[in-house]
Amino acid sequence: MAASSLNLLRYFYGGGERAPRRASKEALCSLLRRISSSPRRHCCSARVGTAAAKEQSCLRSSDLVAIEYADLNLPNKASEELGHVRIRQHVNPLSSSFSVPARVPDWNEVFRDPNLPLMIDIGSGSGRFLMWLAKRNPGVRNYLGLEIRQKLVNRANLWIKELALSNVHFLFANATVSFNQLVSTYPGPLMLVSILCPDPHFKKRHHKRRVVQRPLVDSIIKNLMLGGQVFIQSDVLEVALDMRNQFDAEGDVLRHIDAFNQSLLCDSEGWILSNPMGIRTEREIHAELEGAKIYRRLYQKWI
Ligand SMILES: C[S@@+](CC[C@H](N)C(=O)[O-])C[C@H]1O[C@@H](n2cnc3c(N)ncnc32)[C@H](O)[C@@H]1O
Repeated sequence: MAASSLNLLRYFYGGGERAPRRASKEALCSLLRRISSSPRRHCCSARVGTAAAKEQSCLRSSDLVAIEYADLNLPNKASEELGHVRIRQHVNPLSSSFSVPARVPDWNEVFRDPNLPLMIDIGSGSGRFLMWLAKRNPGVRNYLGLEIRQKLVNRANLWIKELALSNVHFLFANATVSFNQLVSTYPGPLMLVSILCPDPHFKKRHHKRRVVQRPLVDSIIKNLMLGGQVFIQSDVLEVALDMRNQFDAEGDVLRHIDAFNQSLLCDSEGWILSNPMGIRTEREIHAELEGAKIYRRLYQKWI
């Protein structure tokens, strides 16, 4: 494999902060082989001025997800057991089928140590993001994904069984309905809540379907430990602003991170420049491939 091709991938990932350092050389080589023989390439419209840029723009975002999450070594068994997981693009969280609160699990069955601090990811999608974090932090923190699409939850829970991870779990739940009860029964402290690239529900009459609503914000604030954090992001400015306005309004309890931690750089509008979690979410990878900006905020409970 030509060194220039490997460098191209590294360049594409912006200074090697992300996957290239983590993905093995073999994984990158195999990816490049697949890309060059694949008839189905993602060719985004933008940023073609140089040969390198042209080659970059023909990477598929699913391949980028595969590289970024190469360390997970996700087994194929889950896909074999579940068959091809066909998933509806969006669901309506206000429909009656999603109004029943999720059953509270026996936390001792779900986590090896249910007293560890908890991170909850609302709208966890495929679950790769949380699994990646869980694999890196065994015995330090538990991770709970709340996801309204059951098939994604089933597959994610099969994956974690295969990976033998005992500090991460996924629940089929409508977060707006179930968050408070789930969190208030968890034995340990709630240290981090993330809401990353939530469904945008663009039409004004559908805004009430968005996951960040007043009761959820109140419940997050009530349950968060002192020093606990809320991380939000979206590639849709309007959605990011909607979430930001709701959390900024809680300034008597929450402070944005740049007020006391200068190491996380923000742009002039107060959006954090890079993802502080050490890994991008799948939606984030897709969006950045299309040239979108990601709008991020990180709050901390200070009182
Ligand atoms: C655009 S995807 C983003 C997934 C992931 N966070 C990422 O950044 O790649 C939004 C996810 O939120 C889920 N979702 C939407 N409304 C929800 C709700 N009320 N409760 C739980 N999950 C929800 C969707 O099913 C979907 O998987």
